[in-house]
Amino acid sequence: MVTVFRNSLSCQANRVAAVVMLLLLSSACQAKLSSTFYEKSCPNALSTIRKPIRTAIARERRMAASLIRLHFHDCFVQVLVFPSEKLAPPNNHSVRGFEVIDQAKSAVEKVCPGVVSCADILAVAARDASVYVGGPSWTVKLGRRDSTTASPCLACSDLPRPNDSLKRLISRFRAKGLSARDMVALSGAHTIGQAQCFTFQERIYSNGSNIDAGFASKRRLRCPATPGDGKSNLAALDLVTPNSFDNNYFKNLLQKKGLLQSDQVLFSGGSTDDIVSEYSRNPCTFKSDFATAMIKMGNIKPPTGSAGIIRKICSQVNN
Ligand code: HEM
Repeated sequence: MVTVFRNSLSCQANRVAAVVMLLLLSSACQAKLSSTFYEKSCPNALSTIRKPIRTAIARERRMAASLIRLHFHDCFVQVLVFPSEKLAPPNNHSVRGFEVIDQAKSAVEKVCPGVVSCADILAVAARDASVYVGGPSWTVKLGRRDSTTASPCLACSDLPRPNDSLKRLISRFRAKGLSARDMVALSGAHTIGQAQCFTFQERIYSNGSNIDAGFASKRRLRCPATPGDGKSNLAALDLVTPNSFDNNYFKNLLQKKGLLQSDQVLFSGGSTDDIVSEYSRNPCTFKSDFATAMIKMGNIKPPTGSAGIIRKICSQVNN
């Protein structure tokens, strides 16, 4: 009883610290984005977005994971902008949830046409998705506009890959203004959702020393060694609680049960080991760091002001 009370007190203290940090962070880096951006132009925007997002996740819980990932890709390479970005190798047959964002957009268009950007809808959707599955909440800064100038294959060069080394991952996130700690916290999104066989095939057949043998043999059952029919078979990124946002992802890494190579490299004797251990011990720290990092990620140079456009349909270029 006393322990539970102490834990809840320390969680509360962490939450207060996180709120103070978020406030400081917002005032320092978000001159253009603002949480009240649509207060006058579309006062019901947030509640209008929330409804279709919650309906979609209630229908299929994995959609929460897909929307958080879609926001990540959109922040790194503006995936919503051009259909060609959807078809770039890291996204093709992999990113999901475009239709849910289109549904939220059409609901918002009914109440305030031409006002709310797709990028903002996605940022709000990712936050609402996190909350729905037990993850943290945060105040979403708004005012992004939809880009018209994405490079056709930025996704090929800028998005991290499942076989990247730790050094490569750190440099990819650093290039976007995110620290190694942000990267570890954000990778904790792999506490939910699934991955296709071809993304972790090499790892489970490697007989390497950084994978638990029992875990590898279990994963091999539904992921054949030769590329073929099974390459799209799915496995949970967090084998313990694949549908809940918690810190089991980090506990798995300590046991060498990370699904992707890029998960396990975060705890393989390198510079991020201590962060992984910390998050595995302290779920409150993980959740507040995750919220902070999501805000930072949402601020990776979005077009604002008179740059970019407000799309009419998120998956199409305006006529
Ligand atoms: C650190 C570098 C990262 C790499 C290499 C990586 C790679 C991947 C891969 C390969 C998949 C499986 C895709 C598929 O099989 O179709 C995946 C799924 C996922 N990723 Fe990441 N990811 C990274 C970081 C992130 C970040 C920063 C977030 C969000 C903040 C994120 C959220 C997700 C989620 C939620 C899923 C499951 C999606 C679903 O079930 O639809 N990932 N990631």
